[in-house]
This record gives sequence, structure tokens and C-alpha cells, in this order.
Amino acid sequence: MSLIKHFLQFQDLTRDEFEYIFERAKIIKARFKNYQPYHPLGDRTLAMIFEKQSTRTRLSFEAGMHQLGGSAIYLNTRDTQLGRGEPVEDAAEVISRMVDMVMIRTFEQDIIERFASHSRVPVINGLTNEYHPCQIMADIFTFIEHRGCIKGKTVAWVGDSNNMCNTWLQAAVVLDFNVHVSTPPGYEVEPERAGLYDTSHYESFVDPMEACKGADLVTTDVWTSMGFEAENEERKRDFHDWQVDAEMMQVAASDAVFMHCLPAHRGEEVAAEVIDGAQSVVWDEAENRLHTQKALMEYLLLGKVNE
Ligand code: CP
Ligand code: NVA
Repeated sequence: MSLIKHFLQFQDLTRDEFEYIFERAKIIKARFKNYQPYHPLGDRTLAMIFEKQSTRTRLSFEAGMHQLGGSAIYLNTRDTQLGRGEPVEDAAEVISRMVDMVMIRTFEQDIIERFASHSRVPVINGLTNEYHPCQIMADIFTFIEHRGCIKGKTVAWVGDSNNMCNTWLQAAVVLDFNVHVSTPPGYEVEPERAGLYDTSHYESFVDPMEACKGADLVTTDVWTSMGFEAENEERKRDFHDWQVDAEMMQVAASDAVFMHCLPAHRGEEVAAEVIDGAQSVVWDEAENRLHTQKALMEYLLLGKVNE
């Protein structure tokens, strides 16, 4: 059995491990805010392989690794032999002999699973078509900061049953909260694709207003994810009524927060008055990618520490 810990989907870690990571993220964030150097990953190197574009993921991993005393190398698949057809398994064998950890943003989950199965070092999912676990980790940390424990709370997901939605559904099982999902017809959750072994933590709603009723957190994402651009015009028509607007926030709990992983399209999946409004915590959410991923990298490389 492999002793290497990967983070390829949310359910790869347990509730206990997330609780530990959230505690570490709080400590690491406080140190960073106080300009206190903390270099537990001195001389460690992270390779970041990107097959899709990114602002937040690249920046948070690269800056995070630097702040922990290590370094990060950015690889765009187009510029590597992977872009010329080198087998993923061969690339994993080689790359994982030269660095201490690998972060990958790619298309199908199968690609990252194959890479991980041939890697000597931890592999982190920086987004696939199916999942975005680092983002949900940051989102839940942000909820805890603003509202406390997420256990038993209700998250309303309005929009596409994409990588973000699937990961919320997995997180609900691991951390014991509920997700109310509303997607347009034809874009419903596919439990198998979401990797769900337990469907008791989510409920589907035809009407997005119903999904938002009483929710503690309302969230959405772009109507067209990376890799699905050819469907953009059709999706704009199909998702027209799935915009998070002030009316939806009105029926949510009075202290509900709004989240969006970003980048956002105001006037499509979210109204400007919501994302730029008082209930929105999107900038904290983006910042927390940095702190939670630093805690994750520390955990994957060093295990539980007491510093
Ligand atoms: N939310 C997120 O992953 O953003 P990027 O695509 O900019 O990395
Ligand atoms: N669902 C979006 C998230 C971007 C961070 C996408 O996959 O493009």
C-alpha cells in the first residue's frame, strides 16, 4: 500500500484531517498577516502542471510555496513533452523523481489519477473537469471564519452541475452538511461522475428559489466551464433563469453569505448587486486559497506538526 497522500478529490481526506488543516490554515494565515517568516518547506520544490488557464490557482500555489521556504516551477503542458504525446505515466515517473510535490490542472480526472498512480510524491488536484477540491477547501474555511462550523448547515448550489458542484457534494458527505442543488433540465447532477457513495446529503430542486430558501450559503459558478466553450451559446439560453440575484438572496437565511470561486460573469450566473453586495465574501474566499493550500502542502509533506 502506498504511503503517499494525494489530494485528487475532496473525499481523499477525512473530516479529522480537514479539521487539522483548517486549524493550521488559521495559524499560517495569522503568521503571514503578522509578517512572521515560516519556512517549514525549505529546499522543497513543487511542480505545477497547467493544461488550462489560471490566475488564483497558479498564484496561490506559487506564492504559497515561496512563503513556506520552498520553490515552485510552472509547467504549461503545451511547452512540455506532455503536449507532444509523452505518456502521462512516463511523465509522472520522471517529474516525481525531481520534485517533492506536484499540482496538476487538467481535463479528465482519469489523467490526474494515472499520473498519481505513477508518482513517488504527493499529487494535488488544481482542477479537473470533475472536481476542484482546493477551491472547496478554501470555501469551507471561509465559511468557518465568517459563520463558524459548517456541520448541519445548508449550502444552495445554483447553476451547472460542474467540478465545483460535484466537490461541494463530496464535501457535504465528509463534513456532514447539506447541499440544495438546482440546475436547468439536462444539466442535473450525475452521482457517479460526482464520485458520490452517499447521496443522503443533497436534495435537487427544479426551482432555484426553492433551493435557496433558508440556505446559510448561496453559491454558483460560470455557466460554461473551461473545456466546454463550444456549448457557450446554448448554455446561455439554458441557464438564463439560474442567475443568483437579490431575490434569491432574500429567501436565504438572513445571515447567508454568497460565494463564487471566480472568475465571475456579472449579469450571467450572478447579478452584480449580489457579488458586489454586503453578503458576498468572494475576496476572502479567493485569498483563502493561499492559506488553506499552504496548510495542505505542509500536511502532505510533513504530516501533522506542532509548530
Ligand atoms: N477559482 C480558480 O480556481 O481560479 P483560477 O482559474 O484563476 O485558478
Ligand atoms: N467551473 C470552472 C471553475 C473555474 C475556476 C471551470 O472549470 O472553468
